[in-house]
Amino acid sequence: MSTVIKGGTVVTADLSYQADVKIVGDVIVEIGPNLSGDQTLDATGCLIMPGGIDPHTHLEMPFMGTYSADDFESGTRAALAGGTTMVVDFCLPNPGQSLLEALQMWDNKTGKASTDYSFHMAITWWDEQVWREMADVVDRGITSFKHFMAYKGALMVNDDEMYSSFSRCAELGALPLVHAENGDVVAAMTAKLLAEGNNGPEGHAYSRPPEVEGEATNRAIMIADMAGVPLYVVHTSCEQAHEAIRRARQKGMRVYGEPLIQHLTLDESEYFNPDWDHAARRVMSPPFRNKQHQDSLWAGLQSGSLSCVATDHCAFTTDQKRNGVGNFSKIPNGTGGLEDRLPVLWTAGVNTGRLTPNEFVAVTSTNIAKILNMYPKKGAVMVGADADLVVWDPKRKKTISAKAQQSVIDYNVFEGFEVTGLPRYVLSRGKVSIVESEVKAEPGHGKFVAREAKNPVNRALSQWKEIVAPRKVERTGIPATGV
Ligand code: URP
Ligand code: ZN
Ligand code: ZN
Ligand code: ZN
Repeated sequence: MSTVIKGGTVVTADLSYQADVKIVGDVIVEIGPNLSGDQTLDATGCLIMPGGIDPHTHLEMPFMGTYSADDFESGTRAALAGGTTMVVDFCLPNPGQSLLEALQMWDNKTGKASTDYSFHMAITWWDEQVWREMADVVDRGITSFKHFMAYKGALMVNDDEMYSSFSRCAELGALPLVHAENGDVVAAMTAKLLAEGNNGPEGHAYSRPPEVEGEATNRAIMIADMAGVPLYVVHTSCEQAHEAIRRARQKGMRVYGEPLIQHLTLDESEYFNPDWDHAARRVMSPPFRNKQHQDSLWAGLQSGSLSCVATDHCAFTTDQKRNGVGNFSKIPNGTGGLEDRLPVLWTAGVNTGRLTPNEFVAVTSTNIAKILNMYPKKGAVMVGADADLVVWDPKRKKTISAKAQQSVIDYNVFEGFEVTGLPRYVLSRGKVSIVESEVKAEPGHGKFVAREAKNPVNRALSQWKEIVAPRKVERTGIPATGV
């Protein structure tokens, strides 16, 4: 059975042109004028783009004494409804747990995924077994390793562990990722705020100022440089972190920054809403920032110093958030956005003239596919590529509302946002999964995408080359010991 998407404009990360797109099975087989097939999808007035790839989700994740509410079924359904056709989730071994055992547990959650998916493996503890198993994880097609510099006493790793793991990534050709916040400082500030009786959700923002993120981002970049490895910084939310990334890139280092759609469009005033639930629902790490930081993130996307837009979709119900009444540090950290990332970015980015449609494709799909070594299977409209496609209607409008969303939670941080630009059709490996607001997603259709380890070792102008490859000094005389 063949499908032809007819009458639209193909928009990729670098080109826009009129063409029909023909699909047989899972893949694109032809792109050109006047194609025909068994089934036709009308794309008149629409753009045919690679489906979104969300490089950062947490579905059904055990965290802060509970589980994130969207699982692979509701999460990938939400993704499709908003034009996202692939998610990259995080596998989190418990301290002491085998990485491969954790991977098996995570894989068991994916049976009802309706989009393709991959994983990043988190390094939550360190010893020789972890060092060894990292190679097995890479063999299974998981070639990126996440490091939490925050969540002290839970997920946080120390600098020595991070350096060891980054060095191992360099050996394996894998890409390290960091959640960059100084967890020691966050813990100290949290204790102080609580001791002073500052226990509301706004305390969460006060406990994690931009400096906490800027310091950790700098530190991670320097450690990556010492280990001779590229680095991917998740949820870059502030100017200080962006500045560190920009500087490193300017020095020739391969450092990638990932702002979230939430940080681009929602600001810190949310935490000062008098309604406790309203503020707590927006508690995430890093917290929302002020307009100056948002402007910096937009500038980064425009200029290319920031590489991709993600959601960090980690959704908790109001009931789960209420665990932190009387103590903000017990509010489960995380917000949703899987269904909203593309429409909100299109509205706030493309419709305002900040991003071109091609740049939109780059930051929502193609750049991610390239950085994570999935291009052009993913992130491309190309013959032979997977038919993960969104037929985008730039005129279609809606007002975002929790009442109509696919996520199982009872609110939406973008509630009331008017978006212009929505999918008409979404195809997941050829399967028509969305027809306007009708969801035809097929749970179980999603497959694991194995990725290769071929990230180039960082050849930056490091001051630390001597440590990566020590040069031994030939000496003419060595004094006798004990003299
Ligand atoms: O608050 C957040 N971001 N929750 C999800 C876990 C993480 O830190 O990415
Ligand atoms: Zn994080
Ligand atoms: Zn996250
Ligand atoms: Zn199927």
